[in-house]
Amino acid sequence: MQNFSQNTALIPGVKSSIAIASGKGGVGKSTVAVNIAATLVKEGFKTGLIDADIYGPSIPAMLGLKNEKPKITQIQNKNRLLPVVKYGLKLMSIGFLVDQGEAVVWRGPMAASALKQFMSDVQWDELDYLLFDMPPGTGDIQLTLTQTIPLTGAVIVTTPQDISIIDARKGAKMFEKVNVSVLGIVENMSYYSNPDGSKEYIFGRGGGEKLASELGVTFLGEIAINTNIRLGGDEGKPIVLRNPDSSEALQFTQISRNLTEEIKEKSEEKPKIPVIEI
Ligand SMILES: Nc1ncnc2c1ncn2[C@@H]1O[C@H](COP(=O)(O)OP(=O)(O)O)[C@@H](O)[C@H]1O
Ligand SMILES: [Mg+2]
Repeated sequence: MQNFSQNTALIPGVKSSIAIASGKGGVGKSTVAVNIAATLVKEGFKTGLIDADIYGPSIPAMLGLKNEKPKITQIQNKNRLLPVVKYGLKLMSIGFLVDQGEAVVWRGPMAASALKQFMSDVQWDELDYLLFDMPPGTGDIQLTLTQTIPLTGAVIVTTPQDISIIDARKGAKMFEKVNVSVLGIVENMSYYSNPDGSKEYIFGRGGGEKLASELGVTFLGEIAINTNIRLGGDEGKPIVLRNPDSSEALQFTQISRNLTEEIKEKSEEKPKIPVIEI
């Protein structure tokens, strides 16, 4: 599989790297990132997850990791950080390394340099997929981080609400600006299922799908609002592992499969060779 963005070369040994992004915070980006990552592990892929949300790392808590420190090892006389492993998933987060209060005051270049170290100084070994849980927003810091990471593509998470869609569109444009392809849109908190099976479209309906067609990218799927998703995050066990047979877990599974399919198709796209008629 090759890197089809015009960004710099991928981390050695990493076949595909994917940013999970949004415009707005609180739309479920980290929830989507951990559940896709856990699904990829379940499906047999070697998977890593980098918490690139330097200012608000939530991956350690969402995976039940407290006071966890990555180990240091010596490889060819160089100090290398070993990723923390949970549920078979390789992880790195600023939350493992510095106090929450410390990173909050960092400026963009410092955040970018921390992220660079996650790529250069961490012993990832062979990975099929490396996911990045991106910080929200589309300002200078996000743009710098986006340019720092060699990416195969980006997934944009949104809720169906107009305000979230507007910000998601800005997020997608930011990736376009740095020549990273948008692999697709995930709509989170799409509806609430009533006990009688009817659906309540709390934040409106169809916004994610509309945005995908407007941008000409794939709609990867929707996820319902569900207490077990929130509990999975709070208790440190993603719903795809906690309630693997739930309809929400199946929605995440479908989204992961659509994503890997999208990456496969994109990597197989051959540059078109013009046919010359003689
Ligand atoms: N589909 C969902 N159903 C219920 N709660 C959700 C859902 N998606 C996210 N949440 C909860 O909403 C909060 C914000 O989600 P999070 O993934 O941290 O968002 P972001 O990373 O975009 O800021 C978390 O408490 C999370 O558990
Ligand atoms: Mg987050």
